[in-house]
Amino acid sequence: MTLHLWKNFEQVVSLQGVVSKDGRKLIPSDLSIIPNGAVIFSDEAILWVGKSNNIPKQFDIDYSDSFHGHVLLPEIIDSHTHLIFGGDRAHEYAQRLNGVDYQEIAKQGGGINYTVSETNKLTYDELFSIAERRMHKISQYGIGSLEIKTGYSLNIDGEIQLCRIIHKLKEKYSPRLRIFCTLMAAHAIPPNYNHSADYIQAVAIPCLEMTAKEGLIDFVDIFHERGYFTDEDLEKIASTAARLGVALKVHADEFNDNHGAFFAAHFNAVSADHLLKVSNAGINALAQSKTVATLLPGTGLFLGKGMANARQLLDAGVKVALASDYNPGSCHYDNLLFLASIAAPSYKMNLAELWAGITFNAAGALGLMTSGAILPGFLPRFSIFKTKSFEHITYTWGENTFVQDKRYSETKV
Ligand code: NIG
Ligand code: FE
Repeated sequence: MTLHLWKNFEQVVSLQGVVSKDGRKLIPSDLSIIPNGAVIFSDEAILWVGKSNNIPKQFDIDYSDSFHGHVLLPEIIDSHTHLIFGGDRAHEYAQRLNGVDYQEIAKQGGGINYTVSETNKLTYDELFSIAERRMHKISQYGIGSLEIKTGYSLNIDGEIQLCRIIHKLKEKYSPRLRIFCTLMAAHAIPPNYNHSADYIQAVAIPCLEMTAKEGLIDFVDIFHERGYFTDEDLEKIASTAARLGVALKVHADEFNDNHGAFFAAHFNAVSADHLLKVSNAGINALAQSKTVATLLPGTGLFLGKGMANARQLLDAGVKVALASDYNPGSCHYDNLLFLASIAAPSYKMNLAELWAGITFNAAGALGLMTSGAILPGFLPRFSIFKTKSFEHITYTWGENTFVQDKRYSETKV
């Protein structure tokens, strides 16, 4: 077993208090910051964390490194992206600034279906290299784990191909980047179907069956929204996923309160995402469940639809994560740390809520139990920043102080 000792950090932000409260009702001290911190870990797990002047002697250290002027945090996890797509939707952004609404643009044949036609013009290799370029950029921000959704092909062969691309990326970039694949064939109804239920039956369910059996996917997701997919469609996806042992995610209560949060909690979804219009009943259902509420601040800002009521969710005891939702239509932006930094004042989140939102609670939104904190037994996956204190990271908007982990310098991403 190879052992590493990293010492002399200005701070190690362990999140011990966050973990002991399961990421709920957090106060700033739950970050459990260790000044002059150090960590000992093997390739598989963190073994010890504490002060640099208190390092236990019993470990036979193979590699030791010193990090004066640096801060150590758990790796940042972006638990919601749609980064495999062709073309762009700059023209729609312009239309919205001229007053046309997102749903109106979709009704006129734009929106997700426009990106589907652009994506379906591209080959496997073209889509693979587009996704690689986007991942490369994202990896520079301190993000170590990344969920990627399909949903811009919307036919059986195309959706399965997108899963294969994500699977290939997963293999190629492990362990430097940990990638999770979500099948989101239920993203929009293609124009050749009149009813969502017909599309679910003809495409989304067969895709789910095939990709689950082949071991290609980690999650399945559905856009549960007026004009997209109904309660019955969600029920169908949820019951098929449960039978196949695939964890569920739900795009819930984004433009309307459709009881999406309530359904997500009811079906034991790992996460309910968006929640701009979530009701009090939906919030209570989430608070009593294990389902993580994933807020996507970039989307509300990009669409001009405002921000979710984060404070109400947090105060009710909901486990809240933050993610980018990086996609061509509703948030053409990929830096989660920046989004979290600019959203926190409007969300009125304290720094424990912010950092838990992009580490430990984001891990929860991917069903991961031992990620998102720097504690014995957790995975040795970190984000290192060259800065005086962790407070400077989110204070200095847009400055990137992330430093690549030398263990991965061989892997080009
Ligand atoms: O999460 N809400 C559904 N899907 C994306 C939007 C995708 C698009 O507009 O292309 C979202 O916002
Ligand atoms: Fe999304």
